Amino acid sequence: MHWINAVAIFIMIGSGWKIYNDDVIFGFLHFPDAVVIGKWAQYGLQWHFFGMWIFVLNGLVYLGYGIATGRFRQKLLPISARDVLVTVGAALRFRLRHDDLTVYNAVQKVLYLGVMLVGVVIATTGLCLWKPVQFSEVADLFGSFQTIRLVHFLCMAAIVAFILVHVTLALLVPQSLVAMLTGGPLLDPGKSAAAAAVEPEATP
Ligand code: HEM
Repeated sequence: MHWINAVAIFIMIGSGWKIYNDDVIFGFLHFPDAVVIGKWAQYGLQWHFFGMWIFVLNGLVYLGYGIATGRFRQKLLPISARDVLVTVGAALRFRLRHDDLTVYNAVQKVLYLGVMLVGVVIATTGLCLWKPVQFSEVADLFGSFQTIRLVHFLCMAAIVAFILVHVTLALLVPQSLVAMLTGGPLLDPGKSAAAAAVEPEATP
C-alpha cells in the first residue's frame, strides 16, 4: 500500500502542478514543463482524476486496515509531549537509535499521523473542487472556491515537504528502505517507543 500510494502521489503532484499552471494562485510561482504531468491542463485534470481513484481507494484500504487491526493504535499511539522533546533532543545530539525499525519514535509518530490527516484534508478539498455542488455542505465550510483551492494547494506543499524529509531520512538509514521492500521484521507489542528510540547516555 505504501508503494501504490507513492505512485499515486507522484501522479497527483505532477498533474496538480499542471492544473495549477493554468490559473496560478501565486503570481511568482509557475512549475516548469519538465516536472508537470499532462501536455495541456485538461490532460493534467484527467491524470489527476485517474490518480485520485488509486489514491483514495488505496488510502481507504490502508486506513481501514490500520484501524481495524489495531496497527495504528499499536504503532502510532500514545504520543506524549515529553517523548517528542526527548526524541528531538536525541536527534540533535545524533543519539537516535535505528536498530529496531518496528518501533517508531515520537517525532515519526507525529509526522505519520500528521501526513495522514493532510491526506484526508487534500482528498476532501479535492472532492469539493471537483463536485462543488454535490459536496456543497462541506465546500461551504471553507467560505469560497478560492479558499478551497488554497487549502488544497497548501496540503500539497505539506506533502512535498514531508516527502523531502522522509526520503532524506530513509536514505540516511538504508536498512529502513530494505525493510520497506521486504515487509520488515515482526512487531513486538510490549515495547515503549521512547525507550526503544533513544540511545542510552554513555556511562563514564
Ligand atoms: C480525492 C483526491 C483529489 C481530488 C478529487 C482532487 C481534485 C482536484 C481538482 C478538481 C483540481 C482542480 C482545481 C481547480 O479547478 O482549480 C485539483 C487541483 C490540484 N490538486 Fe488535487 N485532487 C485530489 C488530490 C490531490 C493530491 C493527493 C494532490 C497532491 C499531493 C493534489 C494536488 C493538486 C494541486 C497542486 C492542484 C492545483 C491547485 C489549483 O491551482 O487549484 N490533489 N485537484
